Amino acid sequence: MCGIVGYVGTQQASPILMDGLARLEYRGYDSAGLAVHDGKQIHIHRAAGKLSALRAVLASEPMNGTCGIGHTRWATHGAPSEQNAHPHAWGKVVVVHNGILENHAQLREQLLKQGHKFSSQTDTEILAHLIDDELKDVTLEQAVTRALKKVNGTYALAVLCTDFSDRLVVAKNASPLVLGIGEGENLIASDIPALLAYTRDVIFMEDEELALITAQGVKIENFSGEQIERSPKRVNWTPMMAEKGGHKHFMHKEIHEQPRALADTLAGRLNSDHRDVTLDLFKMSDTDIKKLNRILIVACGTSWHAGLVGKFLMEALARIPVETDLASEFRYRKPLVGKDDLVVAISQSGETADTLAAVREAKDLGTNLLAICNVLDSSIPRACEHALYTHAGPEIGVASTKAFTTQIAALVMLALRLGRARGVLQDATAQHIVDALSALPEIIEKALEHEDAIARIARTFSSARDFLYVARGINYPIALEGALKLKEISYIHAEGYPAGELKHGPIALIDEHMPVVAIATKNKSYDKVLSNLAEIKARDGKIIALCSEPDDRIRELAQFIIQVPTTIIELEPMINVIALQLLAYHVADFNGTDVDQPRNLAKSVTVE
Ligand code: M6R
Repeated sequence: MCGIVGYVGTQQASPILMDGLARLEYRGYDSAGLAVHDGKQIHIHRAAGKLSALRAVLASEPMNGTCGIGHTRWATHGAPSEQNAHPHAWGKVVVVHNGILENHAQLREQLLKQGHKFSSQTDTEILAHLIDDELKDVTLEQAVTRALKKVNGTYALAVLCTDFSDRLVVAKNASPLVLGIGEGENLIASDIPALLAYTRDVIFMEDEELALITAQGVKIENFSGEQIERSPKRVNWTPMMAEKGGHKHFMHKEIHEQPRALADTLAGRLNSDHRDVTLDLFKMSDTDIKKLNRILIVACGTSWHAGLVGKFLMEALARIPVETDLASEFRYRKPLVGKDDLVVAISQSGETADTLAAVREAKDLGTNLLAICNVLDSSIPRACEHALYTHAGPEIGVASTKAFTTQIAALVMLALRLGRARGVLQDATAQHIVDALSALPEIIEKALEHEDAIARIARTFSSARDFLYVARGINYPIALEGALKLKEISYIHAEGYPAGELKHGPIALIDEHMPVVAIATKNKSYDKVLSNLAEIKARDGKIIALCSEPDDRIRELAQFIIQVPTTIIELEPMINVIALQLLAYHVADFNGTDVDQPRNLAKSVTVE
């Protein structure tokens, strides 16, 4: 994880670097630092804790200079302390790094024997030593390349050198790195939001590439020194999209952006006859789709929950077997996939290390690959031959919200496309679903209108120690997602279960102190869910029921009711999750936890 930024131009670097780090703080926030070249030497400031601690250091000791690098850290090697905060320096070289160097211990030992001294426990510090050692009669780019040939691992790296006040060198392997192309100034960052205030023209670095960045331009080459020509791409995200826009937290803003995010994700994809969808970058022909034996979905965290919903959708609408696998498990279990399968990788960031590794594993096995992703041209869609982009806009809150609902919308469209191509989805059913999809943004608006009632329930249960979430069928992954949202931002223990599983074990947990959130909407599981609620009530559990319309049967069983708008069963997950996102948000906000940057987490998990 970690976020890196860099600037070379004519403006003062430190405010630009701090602004960039603020937009990358979601990637890690246990310490931060800057290095700025003042024309003669490089000055370094670092501080443990959030960016505000570094801001305080800069207020008393400002930094001058138009070329610099910065870092916000999520600790992997070495405790989150000032000493371990980046940048790290040795000799003439200063570095910031995102990634993990696997052979750092051996290299450190060798360097110690040669008389080097280390001032941190980080793996990163060896890079400054290795590069400085190589800086004899070669350019900075050559020194960096030579040093990187000695390390195994992942990195996005930015390097400053005392000898040059007008340049940075950056390199990438597996960790994300984007170049921002400005006029008379150029920037680098781990992610696009850090660049948006300065430019929307970006170049995505590929693995095993290195670039020299000056105010006049960027020069990219591979590790063999061959120059690479790559034109910038214009991103359609605006700086405003990465602001809080009057909301107390990014998560709150992102929950409320869902009607717009869904409208943008559906835009231009629903055919005018409402019987099919057009997915430009999913280029499989009907003939190839008919040959598919199986779909395998790989993802992590919330994206995996979307994948679980995807299994219900594709099995029901396209009548094809679907497995949904955790990417971290898939990659280590000799998976069986081949040319007649389609592997679908779901990822908001497109940079999650486990999902990317699963994609690469699947690619080696010669299968078809589709990425459902929110970040244009990030590593996962680049590694797949087909892509289906969600248009949620930048998601900054660590807890995923709008990315999740747009991923499900993408999966509904994929299921429609596969069902139509395979000839198993009738006109009327397809039309019914496309009609419902068109109405979805409006229905989500209605779901958001219940926020005040949900906030009151959240306050009532804010001191609970545990929560259970139960649901059936296509809503079961939403129980998992509701529980994940609550635990990651409020630190309250929560578990999601299929309601039918309760009596096979978890019912033992129920007593008068256990709140149980149940999805009891009017669908074909309704009666069964009600029986499960009766079992919970009989053991004094406190039931919070999500229901389509409160009826006497629900009123008898549940202490609290959250009403949700009705839609067709295939779209219910997107509606029901809104209430659970709001419930988690308000519990956390009431308890005063750090909603956008919860402890121990980072937005983009680019390490294993
Ligand atoms: O960027 P990705 O969708 O690949 O990220 C996957 C998970 O790390 C992510 O969904 C995580 O579980 C979120 N914090 C959940 O809110």
